[in-house]
Amino acid sequence: MADKGLLITFEGGEGGGKTTQIVRLRDKLTKAGHDVVVLREPGGTVISEQIREVVLSAKNAGIAYTTEVLLFQAARAQIYREIVLPSLKAGKIVLIDRSRDSSVVYQGMVRGFGKDLIEQLNEISTKNTYPDLTILLDISVEEGLQRRADSGTSNRLDMEDTDFHQKVRDAYLQLAKEDSAHRWVVIDANKSIDEVDEEIWTKVSVKLN
Ligand code: TYD
Repeated sequence: MADKGLLITFEGGEGGGKTTQIVRLRDKLTKAGHDVVVLREPGGTVISEQIREVVLSAKNAGIAYTTEVLLFQAARAQIYREIVLPSLKAGKIVLIDRSRDSSVVYQGMVRGFGKDLIEQLNEISTKNTYPDLTILLDISVEEGLQRRADSGTSNRLDMEDTDFHQKVRDAYLQLAKEDSAHRWVVIDANKSIDEVDEEIWTKVSVKLN
């Protein structure tokens, strides 16, 4: 659990609207007087953004899966030490677009490295830090990929086939179902942006009290 502040992560496959919802949540929290830090993984620091470029560039199609595993963890180790942990210690609310669970899902469950190995690496990279709340924006693969295509942006992993994205969705839902720490909230991201926003606010408000 977070040291003193609050750690909220956003997870899900492509096109679930994480970025939009994070901006809305940040604005609401800031208006309510909270000190909020917004980050993304991989990225969020100068060093982690350089790693992001290597791991996500469509030019690097030849990257080995093991390299991918370690680069995501390297980017995570840096952002936790440089920003996440100090911010939590200072009592801030930290919102991250993806974190440890993305590695569990994409590398552990879909690429096949296994949850246990990835969680061991996550322990090192996060210094044993778990989110207080993880919001899964769940959307059908067809709708998610359509939204992603409409937005005109794509990275190396977006280019995987539909089967890959279906496995990602199923893996997230399985993780959320297992949820022994009661930190996951699954939200139907096919709903309107306003509806999703309200649901997120309801769940976050509980954690603020
Ligand atoms: P990004 O461009 O941030 O897009 P989005 O979050 O909107 O999908 O892409 C990050 C990609 O990296 C995404 O395809 C998931 C993948 N990823 C992993 O495979 N493992 C990880 O540990 C992280 C943080 C991301």
